[in-house]
Amino acid sequence: MRRSTIFFVLGLLTLTSLTSADIYLKETFSDDDWEKRWVHSKHKEDLGKFKVTAGEFYAHEIESRGLQTTEDARFYAISTKFDKIIDNTDKDLVVQYSVKHEQNIDCGGGYVKLLPSEFDALSFKGESLYNIMFGPDICGMNRKVHFIVHHKGENKELKKSIKAPSDQVTHLYTLILKPDHTYKILIDNEEEASGTLEEDFDLLPPEEITDPTAKKPEDWEDLAEIPDPDDHKPEDWVDHPATIPDPDAKKPDDWDDEMDGDWEPPQISNPDYKGEWKPKKIPNPKYKGEWKAPMIPNPDYVPEPNLHAFKTEFIGFDLWQVRSGTIFDNILITDDVETAEKFANETFVKFRDAEKEAKKKLEELEKEQDEADDKDKKDGDKKDDDDDIIDLDVKLGDDGEVKVTKPEKDEKEKEKVKDEKEKEKVKDEKDKEKVKDEKEKESKDKVKTEEVKKEEKAKETKDEKDEMDKLLDDLEEELGLPPKPKKEDHKLPIKDEL
Ligand SMILES: *[C@@H]1O[C@H](CO)[C@@H](O)[C@H](O)[C@H]1NC(C)=O
Repeated sequence: MRRSTIFFVLGLLTLTSLTSADIYLKETFSDDDWEKRWVHSKHKEDLGKFKVTAGEFYAHEIESRGLQTTEDARFYAISTKFDKIIDNTDKDLVVQYSVKHEQNIDCGGGYVKLLPSEFDALSFKGESLYNIMFGPDICGMNRKVHFIVHHKGENKELKKSIKAPSDQVTHLYTLILKPDHTYKILIDNEEEASGTLEEDFDLLPPEEITDPTAKKPEDWEDLAEIPDPDDHKPEDWVDHPATIPDPDAKKPDDWDDEMDGDWEPPQISNPDYKGEWKPKKIPNPKYKGEWKAPMIPNPDYVPEPNLHAFKTEFIGFDLWQVRSGTIFDNILITDDVETAEKFANETFVKFRDAEKEAKKKLEELEKEQDEADDKDKKDGDKKDDDDDIIDLDVKLGDDGEVKVTKPEKDEKEKEKVKDEKEKEKVKDEKDKEKVKDEKEKESKDKVKTEEVKKEEKAKETKDEKDEMDKLLDDLEEELGLPPKPKKEDHKLPIKDEL
């Protein structure tokens, strides 16, 4: 092999090792197959439903699409499996995803859980064992970013507190955990916290303790000051008594010496009293400072080189939300910090300003709408236009311009008409099918027995019903009908956090 060829091969090897980032999961929710990848838990009946949407305001109709919670006062549990098990023993682990509390969150979780191989997606719930929990959790004034690691049967929380943003725009959360036990937490690509697992979590007992057998030596001087041995009581020092008989007191007129005994004036404090003489204090020349027991290695401390290491095969959202509407997006699990940063640049950073712009536009339109409504009301128009906001369409056009389509005033009427039309269309199609079917039947009848016909008839009725149900479902979804509120919505189940 020629020398230059060897260098070329070496160069290639270096290049590959630089670019061989492992991406365990990259989920952008931009296709229609997400439901094939994500598994809803079935651990209870009334878990909240997720849908994929870009939301009410967004930068890009497709790329801004994410997984949204859609029902108020619900538990949510959904998860997805990686193609292979992540073992971060000798590798960085980077967990990154975005959270958009579009609904103006009052109380609800927004964190992810990294789950081990023994995890069962169908029974996913708050108690399910997890490796790492990471992300925002907001309830009223309490707005924190969790970072919790599982250690020997216990979930241990980061002792530092990190505040989670609670506005309505998208925020990016990044957790970086390294084999040297250091971690870093970024929000919107800015470092919010960093440290080590040993120092910032109560995972291991302290490495050193004070020696419990140590005793203060007898001759230890721990007095900082002593009485000056050279100070003497002055010659003219008079030890006046502390109290004297009150010179102004007079024996009462009705005092009877025989009955009451000898009269004595009451004592008052002596103005001449200087107190007891004491020598002045000087610094103790033998002073050694406060005695402290020496530190010794803690016999209970056993270092754990794999404190950071987990085997992870799933990621999931297990949440409780009061007001729903949070959108999760651009989940990236990788072993490479730079890959995560690049992905952040291509998603979160790229759309950040356009999203804010879209939000502003929406708010302006809402304001206009409100003012128009107020005017309408004054004019005696009692039409209920409360839901119009949902119909506003704001998006970023190909030219980078934010586009807003204003809904027609009588959107609801139109919807109704559309609804009717759609139903008629469905009916027409059904009718046509029937005619067609009947014709087909006629021809087939000639060669079929009565029994076969009966079976077919029964199946047809069922197929027809299924098809009708599906059409109606599709129609409801297309019209974006809000989910029907359930009775127990006002009950707030107790949040199972850890
Ligand atoms: C991300 O964008 C910033 C700012 O443009 C840039 O400095 C940085 O190199 C980018 N990171 C990656 C990994 O591409």
